[in-house]
Amino acid sequence: MRFAIVKNAKELAERAFLEIKKVLDEKPDAVIGFATGSTPIPLYDKMADDHKRNGTSYKDVRAFNLDEYVGVDPGDKASFARFMQDRLFSRIDIDPANTDIPNGMAEDLSAECERYSAAVKEHPADIQILGIGANGHIAFNEPYTKPEEPTHIALLTARTRADNAAAFKDPSLVPQYALTMGIDEILTAKRILLLAMGENKAQAIYDMVMGRDDTSCPAAALRRHPDVTVVLDREAAGLLTFGEWERAAEEREARQAAERAEEELEANESDEAVDGETAEAAADEASEADEDAAEESAEDEDAADEDAAEEDVDSDGEESEDGEEADTSEAEDDEAENGEDAADEEADEQADEQADEQADEQADEQDDGADASEEK
Ligand code: GLP
Repeated sequence: MRFAIVKNAKELAERAFLEIKKVLDEKPDAVIGFATGSTPIPLYDKMADDHKRNGTSYKDVRAFNLDEYVGVDPGDKASFARFMQDRLFSRIDIDPANTDIPNGMAEDLSAECERYSAAVKEHPADIQILGIGANGHIAFNEPYTKPEEPTHIALLTARTRADNAAAFKDPSLVPQYALTMGIDEILTAKRILLLAMGENKAQAIYDMVMGRDDTSCPAAALRRHPDVTVVLDREAAGLLTFGEWERAAEEREARQAAERAEEELEANESDEAVDGETAEAAADEASEADEDAAEESAEDEDAADEDAAEEDVDSDGEESEDGEEADTSEAEDDEAENGEDAADEEADEQADEQADEQADEQADEQDDGADASEEK
C-alpha cells in the first residue's frame, strides 16, 4: 500500500488523476472501475476538465461501477447511474455502450448479479477507484461480508443508510438493499486507487491499515492486493502516524518473517522427520538385525542346547529303550544307594573272612598245642 497525504480536495483530485492518466497513457482502451460518493467528485471534475482542456480521450475506455441501490430508477437523481452520468460520463467522450452498472431495477436481481459478475470477470479493471464507508465498507460490502461472495444483494446497515441520506429527500427513502460487486471481485483489478477525506473516515482508514485481520473492516482486504495507492487528506489520515505505519509495517514484516521461519522450520522438521524416520528405520533395522543376531545366537545356543538336549534325549532315549525311563537323578540315587550297599556287603564279607581266618588259625594253634602236649 502506498500513501499520499494531501492538503485538500484539489490536491486529492490532482494526485488521483495522475494514477488514472498513467493507466490511460499505457492503455487507451483501459477498463476503469468507478466509484460513487462525494469523495471522487473532485477527481471526476478534474477528468472532465482535463478532457476539455487536453483532449484526453475515453472513447475506447470501458467503465464498470461498483454498486447501485435496489429499487431506484437509473433516471432518479439519487441513483448511482444518474450520478455517474451527471458527474462524469456526460462530460467526457466515453461511449455510453461501454459503461455498465448493476441494474437495481432488474426484475430478477439474482440474475442481474450473475450477469454483472460475469461481465466484471470478463473485463477485469486496469484501475479501480474506491471510496470507503465510515464503517470500512468498500462498494456496499458491509462489515463481515464474505470476501469471496461475488456481486450480490447487500443489506445496508443503519449507519450506511444515514451516511448516504443526503442524496434522498427523506432519510427514510434510502433503500435498504443495494447490488454490489464483491470484495474478491474488486481485488481482481490490476491497480486500486482508494480515496478518503475527512475526520469521519479516520477510524475506517486506521482499521483498513492497522485493524484486525478479519472481515470486520472490509477495506482491510486491500492489504492482500499488491498495487494499492491510498490518497488521504490529513483528517482521514488522522489516526495514522508515520511511527504507527512504520511500526505496523515492521510488525507485519516481523510476523511474516516469523511465519516464514516457522514454515521453514516445519519444512525442515518434516525433512528431518523423514531423515529421522529413515534413521529410525535404520535404527530399527539395526536393532532388528541385532535382535536377529541375538536371536540367531540365542537360536544357536538353543540349538546347541537342543542338540545337547537331543543328545540327552537320545541318551535318555537309549535309556528309555532299556526301559529305564526313570529320572536320571533317581537312578543315580539308586546307584549310589546300591554302591553303599555293595560297600557294606564287601566290608561284611571281609570281616567274615577275617573272623573265619582267625578262628581257623586259633583252631590250628590249639590243635598244634594239643599235639605238642600229646608229644610231650
Ligand atoms: C457509498 C458507496 C461507496 C462509497 C461510500 C463513501 O456507500 N457505496 O462506494 O465509497 O459511499 O461515500 P463518500 O465518498 O460520500 O463518503
